Amino acid sequence: MKQETLDILKKYNQEHVLNYINLCTEEEKEKLEEQILKIDFEQLKNLYEETKCQAYIEERKIESISYTDKAKLSSERKEKLEAVGKNIISSGHYAVITMAGGQGTRLGHKGPKGTYILNTCKGPKYLFEIIVDTLKEANQKYSVTIPWYIMTSKENNDETIKFFEEHNYFDYDKTKVKFFMQGELPLINTEGKVIFDKTKQIKEAADGNGGIYEAISKSGLLLEMQNNNIDWVFVSNIDNVLSNFVDAILLGLTIEENQKIGAKSVAKTNPEEKIGVFCKVNGRAKIIEYIDLPKEMAQEVDENGELVYGEGNFGNYLFSRTVLEDLSNVKLPYHAAFKKSEYLAEDGSYIEPESPNVYKFEAFIFDAFARYEDITILRVKREDEFAPLKNKEGVDSAQTAADLYNAKHK
Ligand code: UD1
Repeated sequence: MKQETLDILKKYNQEHVLNYINLCTEEEKEKLEEQILKIDFEQLKNLYEETKCQAYIEERKIESISYTDKAKLSSERKEKLEAVGKNIISSGHYAVITMAGGQGTRLGHKGPKGTYILNTCKGPKYLFEIIVDTLKEANQKYSVTIPWYIMTSKENNDETIKFFEEHNYFDYDKTKVKFFMQGELPLINTEGKVIFDKTKQIKEAADGNGGIYEAISKSGLLLEMQNNNIDWVFVSNIDNVLSNFVDAILLGLTIEENQKIGAKSVAKTNPEEKIGVFCKVNGRAKIIEYIDLPKEMAQEVDENGELVYGEGNFGNYLFSRTVLEDLSNVKLPYHAAFKKSEYLAEDGSYIEPESPNVYKFEAFIFDAFARYEDITILRVKREDEFAPLKNKEGVDSAQTAADLYNAKHK
């Protein structure tokens, strides 16, 4: 190894990496060295230090957030908003991004989550296919072909592309579909040391859906949007089988309210439901993720008995392209999660731990919202737009997602 590489390992207390060299072929050694030189160990050191600190609670003023309830809009108002949105969509200034870089561990599906088959009243359908169905319907309605960008990660990019090729893009115009890859960060153990995977490389994982802003710019997608005059981009999760991501009303409302970001919410079904909630922190729009919402806050009700923090986030966001331009160089904070991860031991054995052993660092897409004065929120009906597929069984499972899908499509 070059002196430069050895110095990095020494400086950042990662010299255990050298113990893996004996396991490597010449080619693996070269790849490993390349990887070491690419990793930002200074950042990793700081992230590790943060896991040991008590989270810093700044003076925070948390309030509930205001929103527009779609069900309460008059038909006249709806028509007016829809006309504004329609004008943009049908003139080709609107694109859709599906975030599909996650691992889908909870679902226990091998392969990209979009390749999961759901048994619906229209027959078995891949999650990606369900998205294509929605896009095709919108294309017909607005007489356009909406560009569709799919965010993948290193872990699933090749498999995702191969899947689309094999299925002939479900007859979507292939030239309108683009894949772009998000970044990765190494996993570290409780001593702050990197771990190894089966390929004898340092184990890395996708850096959270907040990696989207950097990925859009680095991959050249931003330039492509600029060249194609895409002014508005709708971003949504892969795992909602009722996602309505071509939404002229949300677009019209966001423009009318003079905002650059719009998002949709659903009323939370119960305080424990595992969805993030919209609120205002120090006057700025924010989503508090379900794992971070204190129980007392989750249960707080107003004078009408409604949850104060009851506007649930279901991963439907609308961005003006200018926001994506602003955010391309912004570093969002990382949230550390303590997880179970298999790894290669120094003696070459492969270990499957029974309890969490590593920190994984993820940025959240919505942590960027607070950079803006305000955002538009449109509350929609859950039965119309939200059928999440997260778990193998029970809540938010294939069964519940298929039931909701069928109820809407029958
Ligand atoms: C997410 C939201 C949560 C919301 C819920 C609704 C985040 C951080 N949280 O939770 O507020 O209530 O959906 O269903 O978004 N992804 C990537 N790359 C990554 C990680 C995730 O592309 O590195 C994608 C996933 O493929 C998925 C989406 O982001 O499409 C959501 O990610 P996931 O980790 O499943 O978040 P949830 O815990 O479900």
